[in-house]
Amino acid sequence: MRLVMLGPPGAGKGTQAMLLEAKLGAPQIASGDLLRSAVRSRTALGVEAKRFMDKGALVPDDLVLQLIDDRLREPDAAGGFILDGFPRTVSQAETLGRMLAARKQALDKVVAIVLPDEEIIKRISGRRTCKNCGAMYHLIFDPPRNHNLCNKCNGELYQRDDDAEDTVRMRLQVYAGSTRPLLDYYGRLGLLVQVEGTGRADEVQRRIVAGLGVTESGSGAGLKP
Ligand code: AP5
Repeated sequence: MRLVMLGPPGAGKGTQAMLLEAKLGAPQIASGDLLRSAVRSRTALGVEAKRFMDKGALVPDDLVLQLIDDRLREPDAAGGFILDGFPRTVSQAETLGRMLAARKQALDKVVAIVLPDEEIIKRISGRRTCKNCGAMYHLIFDPPRNHNLCNKCNGELYQRDDDAEDTVRMRLQVYAGSTRPLLDYYGRLGLLVQVEGTGRADEVQRRIVAGLGVTESGSGAGLKP
């Protein structure tokens, strides 16, 4: 199963990819997480990427493609993956297509989560992430049991630097200009499954699973044997 999760910032791509990971047995590969990890480690790539991420702009392709190509070569991605946040432009999608073709692979489906801007702002402003294990919470919709501490590992929760309101508005503009055209691109290839992103996370997950034709045990209409 080779999937791409598309959608505006804060639409729930990461939340849904994590839920699908358990069902499909394929790893979530999030370009944003890979970039944030490089930023935390202060690698040359991370230092360069941070300049763009802090503004809400896209990181240049050469940096992102290098991270994705390396990650897709890891053994756990050999049988499938759930790409979250990549590709983000038609040019990245074309490169991904070529990367997979060179390995005699192809995407099975592209899930696009649709959510209105006002809901996106609410979701992003309440998001908190564990510094230690990366678990995600929302102050209102999915609050941690103990204030500012992760339920799983007791790590400290933080708010992402690029979740400030002005930066979120820039990310929404970038989505509209550069990423939304991917809906047409993958629609033309017959891969697109559009899913309404409103409602609870488990409700959205049920819509995605139904759209993919995946059974609760993970098998589905020609998608996984
Ligand atoms: P990235 O990390 O990919 O951010 P994004 O696409 O803006 O998406 P988010 O992570 O903000 O949101 P999400 O859709 O995953 O929602 P989530 O599940 O967290 O990218 C960050 C930056 O990196 C980019 O701006 C760019 O600079 C760079 N970058 C990354 N990829 C790149 C690429 N390919 N090319 C170039 N640059 C790239 O949910 C949000 C919140 O809502 C959470 O608190 C969650 O708990 C809550 N929530 C989720 N679902 C629900 C629900 N159903 N009901 C209520 N609350 C919910």
